[in-house]
Amino acid sequence: MADLSISLAGISSPNPFWLASAPPTNSGDQVMRAFDAGWGGAVWKTLGDPIVDTSSRFGSLDVGGQRMVGFNNIELITDRPLDVNLREMRHVKNRYPKHAIIASLMVEKREDWRDIIKAVIDHGCDGIELNFGCPHGMCERGMGSAVGQEPEVLKVVAAWAVEYSSVPVLIKLTPNVGDILEPGLASVEAGAHGLSLINTIKSLIGVDLDRLVPYPVVGRHSTNGGYCGPAVKPIALHMVGALARDPRITVPISGIGGIATWRDAAEFIALGSTSVQVCTAVMHYGFRIVEDMIEGLSNYLDEKGMKSVNELRGRALPAFLEWGDLDLNYKVAAHVDPSKCIGCDLCYVACRDSSVFCIHNSAEPLPAGHHAPTRDAALAAAKQRGSHVVWVDESECTGCNLCAAVCPVPDCITMVDVTDGRPFESWNDRVAKGTANVPGGLEDWRSTAKSGGARA
Ligand SMILES: Cc1cc2nc3c(=O)[nH]c(=O)nc-3n(C[C@H](O)[C@H](O)[C@H](O)COP(=O)(O)O)c2cc1C
Repeated sequence: MADLSISLAGISSPNPFWLASAPPTNSGDQVMRAFDAGWGGAVWKTLGDPIVDTSSRFGSLDVGGQRMVGFNNIELITDRPLDVNLREMRHVKNRYPKHAIIASLMVEKREDWRDIIKAVIDHGCDGIELNFGCPHGMCERGMGSAVGQEPEVLKVVAAWAVEYSSVPVLIKLTPNVGDILEPGLASVEAGAHGLSLINTIKSLIGVDLDRLVPYPVVGRHSTNGGYCGPAVKPIALHMVGALARDPRITVPISGIGGIATWRDAAEFIALGSTSVQVCTAVMHYGFRIVEDMIEGLSNYLDEKGMKSVNELRGRALPAFLEWGDLDLNYKVAAHVDPSKCIGCDLCYVACRDSSVFCIHNSAEPLPAGHHAPTRDAALAAAKQRGSHVVWVDESECTGCNLCAAVCPVPDCITMVDVTDGRPFESWNDRVAKGTANVPGGLEDWRSTAKSGGARA
């Protein structure tokens, strides 16, 4: 069985699965039950001056009958006194010395950072995580994302923490920025030992159309909250990958955002995460989900012949490029398995209304001059079944993937490599050879804007 243990900036953990700072890590009792269930680490619910929360404070997005695809909250940091949290933290560390306990912190003034950092270290935490990400409530008080959105401010506060801390300092980044590299680089420059991302995305989850008040309803009003859960995973993956592939980001990453299964975790690790953190999936299904995560990741590593989870880290990064470096001569075309097609026409309609209309059904004649080797098989299958079956006019297919995305039957539509032998050639290759029409680009716009003149 592959070794799942990790060390992130010197914080060691029996596996890469950590609970994110959130309701599941609000008390020592919860963290201990989570460790018993198999979690390798926990980032304690953010500590600071205890707050008053609203009632209600969560909102949820359901899609097609699936609950909590996206989750929204306007909860603030801990509402429990610091001394109670500290006592429990020490107790948990004493009972679980091999598990990772990270104290998430959010205070305002320099001396408050000094005092709270000393307190959590004195009570046994293995690392601290600075919450520069909360996009509601706390940011109005000059903390959370208010710090994370301003690299110069972030640098000042992070440097205080690095100065006062004798344990590794992780910076938890907000995704509510234009370019995640800016706060990422500022953190590294401030001396942080690791990055955690993402915190939640600023959002309004919906509107109660009877009361005409956005959710979550607090009396007769609401406010923007932080969005998380499966729906945010692609945004989080991009940000993690964008940081991990940049050679200037020299510190390890704890990946967060929409992780619910071992596959999600493996994707984050393949894009450069050392540990992964989970909140919404645990709020939805409980601590027990970690059992499947451990088993699934471990089986996957065994199947791939990897002896340790560390061998997976960053393995997908060389394949994560800028658009201009992709092969413009690579080509795939849709292939429909006639024995699996149920004639629902979802791909037909999608291709007709939103793509190049190269999918036809067996009831239609072949357009003049078109070449469709798959049509005969579709006609035969249709005859046998007594219902129509779709087929693809490969000469027209641009390989966009839309049909495969909408098809409800697993493996019915696959994308087949039909590259015609032309060598790899990217847009940037064409620019270098002088065969691409290159406009001035962003730099041109920037200098035009600076000079206040019209673009040449
Ligand atoms: C109800 C709730 C409370 C949260 N509280 C905190 C917090 O106190 N500190 C913090 O750093 N992040 C907090 N988060 C953000 C999570 O730690 C995490 O970054 C985010 O939810 C994305 O992960 P997920 O998609 O697995 O939920 C909270 C999230 C939720 C849903």
